[in-house]
Amino acid sequence: MAKQGFPQAGKFTHADYLRLIDTIYYHNRKYYVEDDPEISDADYDDLLRLLRQVEDLHPDWIRPDSPSLKVGGEVREEFPTVRHDPPMMSLDNAMDAGEFRAFHDRLVRAGIHNPVYHVEPKFDGLAIELVYENGILAVGSTRGDGETGEDITHNVRTVANVPLRLLLPNPPQFVSVRGEVLIPLADFAALNAELAREGKKQFANPRNTAAGALRQQDSREARNKKLVFFPYSIARLEDSQKRFTEELRFQNTIWEIVLPALGFRIAQYHCTANFNEVLSYYEEMLKRRSELEYDLDGLVIKLNDTRQWENLGSTSKAPRWAIAYKFPARSGITRLERVVYQVGRTGLITPVAELAPINLGGVMVSRASLHNADEIARLDLHEHDYVEVVRSGDVIPKVIRALPEMRNRQARRVEFIRNCPECKTPLVHEDVYYRCPNPDCSGIKEAYLQFFVSKNGIDIEALGSEWVGKLYRSGVVQDFADIFALSKKVLLQFEGMGEVLAAKILAAIDQRRQIPFAKLLAALGIPNVGEHIASVLAAHFPDAESLAAASEEQLTAIHEIGPTIARSVRSWFSERKNRERLDKLRKNGVTIIPASAGRVSDAFSGKTFVFTGTLTRFTREQAEAAVRARGGRAASSVSRKTDFVVVGENPGSKAAKARELGVRILSEEEFVAML
Ligand code: IVH
Repeated sequence: MAKQGFPQAGKFTHADYLRLIDTIYYHNRKYYVEDDPEISDADYDDLLRLLRQVEDLHPDWIRPDSPSLKVGGEVREEFPTVRHDPPMMSLDNAMDAGEFRAFHDRLVRAGIHNPVYHVEPKFDGLAIELVYENGILAVGSTRGDGETGEDITHNVRTVANVPLRLLLPNPPQFVSVRGEVLIPLADFAALNAELAREGKKQFANPRNTAAGALRQQDSREARNKKLVFFPYSIARLEDSQKRFTEELRFQNTIWEIVLPALGFRIAQYHCTANFNEVLSYYEEMLKRRSELEYDLDGLVIKLNDTRQWENLGSTSKAPRWAIAYKFPARSGITRLERVVYQVGRTGLITPVAELAPINLGGVMVSRASLHNADEIARLDLHEHDYVEVVRSGDVIPKVIRALPEMRNRQARRVEFIRNCPECKTPLVHEDVYYRCPNPDCSGIKEAYLQFFVSKNGIDIEALGSEWVGKLYRSGVVQDFADIFALSKKVLLQFEGMGEVLAAKILAAIDQRRQIPFAKLLAALGIPNVGEHIASVLAAHFPDAESLAAASEEQLTAIHEIGPTIARSVRSWFSERKNRERLDKLRKNGVTIIPASAGRVSDAFSGKTFVFTGTLTRFTREQAEAAVRARGGRAASSVSRKTDFVVVGENPGSKAAKARELGVRILSEEEFVAML
């Protein structure tokens, strides 16, 4: 793109420089506030690069609100203290509907007859205050003890959606905005995955990571954490033009009008509601909690009319006009019963903590992953320790720490096993992992079959992994092909198996007798061949015969297929046993449907899909994989760049957003028809 009519860096005048900054700010608003970018990311980066070149040539021009400061690099040895005026308060908590009702009743008794509330997410991050003087970010500070915090301006500047300059002509002389800094869950997961790949210690949770990032001396560290800021209040606003006087009287208009006008993006999921509406909104948000992009620990309910705030006043720590209506906790302390070891389908040994059952956010938890031997050592886990367990999003519960102060003195340290728990073969140690090296290990075979049948395999839902285990251990099912030879008579020999369940299992197996090659390929559990790679391979080699005949060179010629995958595929197909199993599969009545050539489909290629609500025929992951396999993209949020929003049952706000933006909406049936 033409750089919007800007000369080369060397020819810049000071006026050009100011105009460039304005242009970048214009696009910031489009991107961060309106969610409606006008230029591509690459073009935006070009503008930033140009800005940096100009600033290199004219360091004396650099303005305190230059977007280049977002890149970070400033290092501060210490953080001076900052006074908060007025102080940053805390909130009282309501742990259940009864406590929320008590809060409501107090307001009614105080003379507010039909309280109207503004309901906001209770962000689980770190509270900060941003002070803008004459429109320019002057200070960013932590909450600290509420009266005084620490000056962390250098780090706050790097937070992508914190404007360094208010996006308002003739800005107010002074405004202080308060809100919360956090890390979206997906970015947190990516950060930890990266650390894991590098063999470094992972972060315990998004909150601590955000808090740590804001207190770094070198602001590049903060920038790399992908922090975001969500404002929730305006503490003070001085404006000689007396704008917003009306809007500041209501919390919902502060959110909907004042904050966006200043250049802030507010969070979704807020509403204005009466008492009963708050209750149903709470239930709705609780259900959708695990779909959200970030951790919420509840809702904050505030009286919407801010004029009533003063009359009500506050206690020593919290205002009387607001309450945090918390979601059930998803972490808690419980006792470790024992550590058991699971053998995976590749021989990997995973230690699992068996726990005294504990209710975490409404779900009973009695097992948690301990990952690997290093993790057990890091936790310094002892027998029967009390441990803190967390459940966040959809991930498996995790033990995050042991409580040594509650430990029995005689307790022994948990030592990782040396031999396979199934076949007793000595384990081999590969960096932080232990593996059973015995290819005939019964534990490995059982796990392999369980994978084959599971959701990520060919997905025979009615046949749970307990039953797969029983069938394997009894000798009835020795390999995946045997599943298709099961009969009612055989099944009924098992204790706990009845006519109804047997019929259900057999019907589910029959449903898989016609199986697309790509799906089967992913289920075979060939190392390094997951769902995506399986569909790439099937797009080039439509059936087992042609893939079995492919050379390493032919395989690596495919985009996305590297030598590791190619070797792994070759070695799987070169084993006679594996080829025989595929033949047996056919003999047992399975038809492998060849992938049709040129699978990348025009309807999907380059198109962005967003899913919302529950689909009846797919999991979210399966639907997204189907899109990707056809050359499309699956995204998690709706913007003008979205091509289709597929709406399942009980859709969330994404459907409404799609309607608002005029994005094409598909029902699940229409989506299936497109596939
Ligand atoms: S209002 C005067 N609104 O929760 C009331 N706080 O438990 C206090 N928080 O320190 C601030 N989301 O860090 C408010 N929508 C929201 C919030 C929120 C999260 C945090 C904030 C506060 C803490 C109190």
